[in-house]
Amino acid sequence: MTPSRLQSMGIFWSLIARPLIAVQDSEKAHARTLKAMALSDWFLPSKVLTKILYSRKGAPVEEFGLTFPNPVGVAAGMDKYAEAVRGWESLGFGFMEIGGITEHAQDGNPKPRMFRAGSEKALVNRMGFNNPGSIAMTKRLKYLHDKKRWPNMPVVANIGKSKITPLEEAGADYATTLSRLWPYVDMFIINVSSPNTPNLRELQHDEALKGVLNSCMKAQTEAREEYGGKDKAVLVKIAPDLEDHEILAIVNTARKAGCAGIVATNTTISRPNTTDSKSQKIFAETGGLSGQPLKQRSTEVIRFIADATDGEWPIIGVGGVANADDAWEKIINGASLIQLYSAMVFIGPSIAKKINKGLVAKLKEHGLSDIKQAVGLARKSA
Ligand SMILES: Cc1cc2nc3c(=O)[nH]c(=O)nc-3n(C[C@H](O)[C@H](O)[C@H](O)COP(=O)(O)O)c2cc1C
Repeated sequence: MTPSRLQSMGIFWSLIARPLIAVQDSEKAHARTLKAMALSDWFLPSKVLTKILYSRKGAPVEEFGLTFPNPVGVAAGMDKYAEAVRGWESLGFGFMEIGGITEHAQDGNPKPRMFRAGSEKALVNRMGFNNPGSIAMTKRLKYLHDKKRWPNMPVVANIGKSKITPLEEAGADYATTLSRLWPYVDMFIINVSSPNTPNLRELQHDEALKGVLNSCMKAQTEAREEYGGKDKAVLVKIAPDLEDHEILAIVNTARKAGCAGIVATNTTISRPNTTDSKSQKIFAETGGLSGQPLKQRSTEVIRFIADATDGEWPIIGVGGVANADDAWEKIINGASLIQLYSAMVFIGPSIAKKINKGLVAKLKEHGLSDIKQAVGLARKSA
């Protein structure tokens, strides 16, 4: 594929596909895109073409006992049903997170529940963990493994709490999902930070968090004994709307419980100022805000955790990453890997390729040979 052909595909996306998607309901557009990606994976020519157009060799990262072909991941919520797991690999991502998955199947909140604020490059969502539940998801993942339709990159499961489960029984709900999915995924992220399940964020606090994480670790030990193999990394994902002392408490509890690291951050319930009337309307919607306005706060949280742990506890950085500069900023402040969701909506399928290309250039510019050497660089020089 010549550079001019590639350029024209990019122009096609900017001039035709993106405006077409922009006039569709956000959730419908999202569902159609995932279906197209899943379909494309079944046909060798389209799969090969997608790979040629969008993937590129990135800088591999060894973390959590796994090899990530590059540090750019698909954030939770993007592929809730594991519809297009290999499609993300073809688009050049280095890992993906499926879910959030809850023990019980649930429809999520009434629609509409996902909104675009184009002028701010932000999304507001109140999806509420719409997902097929842990039993159906287990079947889906088993099918993908059996049919050899599994990607050559780590697949992470994001676990949430079922809405019908009371907070006091949350530990068993998370643990059941973890046990069921254990044989099929590479690692787990325990999501106690979504603003869209009533009171879920209360699980970030001391005893409640301890209870949830201990149940998950026990389920992991039992699963390992049953299926064999090694323990899989279990991480906790936190909200950006926490005070420093609350973040510190979560870090201490999660480390004590044996968590392998942390994901910072989920969406925020805060809202930025905007003069754009359309965005003002979107920001008035209830839900979690993601994208550009979250970028700075999420990096602050990453930096705070990296400082508090002397850079010894891996962090996955997520929130407002839209280009290589944003990804680099998160890495040099302490993130070992990064993820994105919103920028995929605004920039399109070339995003992972662009970021990976930029990160490889940044490593070269700084005379570094791998991403690990860049992690926390801003802290070390401070
Ligand atoms: C529509 C939507 C659904 C999401 N669903 C989940 C989810 O199920 N579990 C979770 O941990 N995070 C979920 N997130 C949060 C993202 O994984 C990510 O943390 C957040 O969007 C910030 O990244 P971004 O600025 O790149 O979008 C969701 C985000 C969006 C926009």
